[in-house]
Amino acid sequence: MKTLYLKSNDKKSISTAAEILKNGGLVAIPTETVYGLAANALDGEAVRKIFIAKGRPQDNPLIVHVASLEEIEPLVEKVDPRVYSLAKEYWPGPLTVIMKKSALIPNEVSAGLDTVAIRMPSHECAREIIMESGLPLAAPSANASGKPSPTKASHVIEDLDGKIDAVVDGGECSVGVESTVVTLATEPPTLLRPGGITPEQLEAVLGAIQISPAVFEKLREGEKAESPGMKYKHYAPAAQVTIIKGSFEQYKNFLLAQKETVCAVCFEGEGKHFEKYIEYGKENDDISQAHMIFDALREVDAIGCEKAFVRCPITSGVGLAVYNRLLRSAAFRVIDLDISIPVIGLTGQTGAGKTTVGEILLKKGCHIVDTDILARKAVENPEVIAMLSKRFGADIIKDSVLDRRELARRAFSTPEGTKALSAITHPEITRLAIEEIHTAEKSGAKAAVIDAALLFDSPLVAVCEKNICVVADEKTRLERIMKRDSISESDARLRINAQPSTEYYTEKSDIIINNNVGTDIEAQIIGILH
Ligand code: TXA
Ligand code: MG
Repeated sequence: MKTLYLKSNDKKSISTAAEILKNGGLVAIPTETVYGLAANALDGEAVRKIFIAKGRPQDNPLIVHVASLEEIEPLVEKVDPRVYSLAKEYWPGPLTVIMKKSALIPNEVSAGLDTVAIRMPSHECAREIIMESGLPLAAPSANASGKPSPTKASHVIEDLDGKIDAVVDGGECSVGVESTVVTLATEPPTLLRPGGITPEQLEAVLGAIQISPAVFEKLREGEKAESPGMKYKHYAPAAQVTIIKGSFEQYKNFLLAQKETVCAVCFEGEGKHFEKYIEYGKENDDISQAHMIFDALREVDAIGCEKAFVRCPITSGVGLAVYNRLLRSAAFRVIDLDISIPVIGLTGQTGAGKTTVGEILLKKGCHIVDTDILARKAVENPEVIAMLSKRFGADIIKDSVLDRRELARRAFSTPEGTKALSAITHPEITRLAIEEIHTAEKSGAKAAVIDAALLFDSPLVAVCEKNICVVADEKTRLERIMKRDSISESDARLRINAQPSTEYYTEKSDIIINNNVGTDIEAQIIGILH
């Protein structure tokens, strides 16, 4: 089908849009939050087309849009009196209220629930289309299911061109994130989705409300979503998104330490430090962050970046909505660089005695982060496994377990394979390491020590205040490896030769611990700790 492009400031557009809707068609309309894909809410057949156009899961109900309070009565069992108090303050505007539905609401809208979500948008064009059609309009965000919500008509066209009857271009959406969804069907009312109206604003009218755990957390296996839309990975560009908490300085160092080019999704004025960047709003301004976040997420794909590191938004006010959406687009991947204990990098060539130094530091109250262990843990993450099987073949999974030996055989057989393996696993190792540091911090460790043979090739180096390298002469290392791993001298020599030179380590380190036979390393460490 050919999608008609209409301009909102043209009177004829409004009547054309209304006409299409009355005839059971689909029209994408601008609202103050995001663009909505509208259909006659009372026509199950028309509503079904929305699900098809978006590729939306059948069990995710839609919001019904009205232009006046009188229109609500027939749609619900009984108008909860609190709706009038809410309406007085926040309607028309970015608030959706859930009540018990009436028989008029088709099952397609409520996805089988006995409730209906209602909102009165403030965007002039949306209001005109509702009034002109004389219909309540069911409208989810006008994006392909799973993608970032559209805040410009061009976003709608990107996702739905040829799949819907028309799009009305009303410029950029002012709020930029979807409406707040609150249900009055629970006592106290429950905030199901944060949005343009803040929890504080709701409480000012409703008194205490509860916040659904799904706002911040991934649903556990088998758990039922109160708001089905919150259960999917959502709002996601094709690129992998990671949220980075901490100061700009920490963010910058961490990004610049990445081995590959990543896209910095940061605040106004910060982008100039990076090769590829997109700025979204001002650092201390949740309103501007909300306004730009979805466009920024779409831009990441447009500039062709596979990984995006997003500066954490303000998490209060409207920022709560931005954070909630970002958590889903990042599949809950958050790295918090704000660490309150000292972090020390510990590295060195094989056989030099890194492990021995680690053991001494452990006895002195430090926590040791063993990156070898984390490398094994990283490949247990389902998302990592999915990426590995996509790159190296589905048959590296046998009986739903990763065949690590087969993976290694395929990955290490070519330089590209080796590189691809690191690109997939290293971000997860990094995330796990920083998560472990925060656990150590909470349990009272004096410092965290990152034990990593290839520390200087890892972005983890950016969180280390000081780097220690352990050195020993080649003869000592040879003997230690042969004894430790029961291998021949020539095999031990192969391993040594596969590693960077001693100078490579010492040049980049702040502290060098000499661990030749006969030296007192404990004394050296005590000196360092002081
Ligand atoms: O700002 C908005 O709300 C936009 C514009 C177009 O109005 N619409 C929007 O719709 O965001 P959608 O479908 O993308 O999100 C609706 C959310 C989903 O999370 C859905 O699960 C939830 O509202 N929802 C709808 N009806 C519900 C119900 N009866 N009970 C619980 N959750 C409901
Ligand atoms: Mg949506």
